[in-house]
Amino acid sequence: MNSISASPLLQFSSISKQFGGLSALSDVSLHIRRGEIYGLIGPNGAGKTTLFNVITGLYQASAGEFQFNGKNYQSCKPHVLARAGIARTFQNIRLFANLSALENVMIGRHVRTKTGVIGALLRNRAARHEERAIAERARELLDYVGITKPHQTLARHLSYGEQRRLEIARALATDPLLLALDEPAAGMNATETESLKTLLQTIRASGITVLLIEHDVKLIMVLCDRVAVLDYGKKIAEGIPDEVRRKPAVIAAYLGGSDD
Ligand SMILES: Nc1ncnc2c1ncn2[C@@H]1O[C@H](COP(=O)(O)OP(=O)(O)O)[C@@H](O)[C@H]1O
Ligand SMILES: [Mg+2]
Repeated sequence: MNSISASPLLQFSSISKQFGGLSALSDVSLHIRRGEIYGLIGPNGAGKTTLFNVITGLYQASAGEFQFNGKNYQSCKPHVLARAGIARTFQNIRLFANLSALENVMIGRHVRTKTGVIGALLRNRAARHEERAIAERARELLDYVGITKPHQTLARHLSYGEQRRLEIARALATDPLLLALDEPAAGMNATETESLKTLLQTIRASGITVLLIEHDVKLIMVLCDRVAVLDYGKKIAEGIPDEVRRKPAVIAAYLGGSDD
């Protein structure tokens, strides 16, 4: 094994995040290996989304730092982390409801383009050329995530499951190394969850590392290589799913009261 594949893709070193007197994250250290599906679970308010907000640059950590793909990051803007290869979806779907499915994915792609959104709006020649390539790639991604409705369909006219997939397509359009999904199965029915599972396995097989926050414990157990459990901002357990689910602290904090 060479040193690059052996080094973790993401390493969290003693990250804390305070909101006034509240510690949303306390001294959290963890690492995510290249190519794995890493699950992040814990009760509501445990700090899971806050961790996503730190690694995507929406929040600055109060202490600690993280390393991504061999570089240190402490206080970076979201576009810097997006270009570094971190993409995410949101717990509450954030799509442009009145833009088409295709346009929503194309917007994701602009992270990687020279002309960017402004150039695309001004529509100079270079931008038009680039725009065609972006549209082509966006169409591929819509097919890839299994959106079968016409690509011009407005996002708000897609079903709930399709909207979740569209968010994933938009995140994939940035060509991420790490795809971070914040409760992607929330609100999905059993069929939608099953096809999400297949999609995530396909994404991982393509070489993209996946960080998954999920309440559906069954989904976590079948999909994840390793899992970390947060409770009140602290990491209380980490390991392979089957071991983690047996730990008394985890059962007490999270799994015990739930039969799902
Ligand atoms: N912007 C914010 N301002 C103040 N408190 C916040 C903010 N974001 C999150 N929190 C608090 O941090 C804690 C962790 O929240 P969150 O990361 O959303 O938890 P989870 O995603 O695990 O449910 C909660 O107590 C939440 O109220
Ligand atoms: Mg959350």
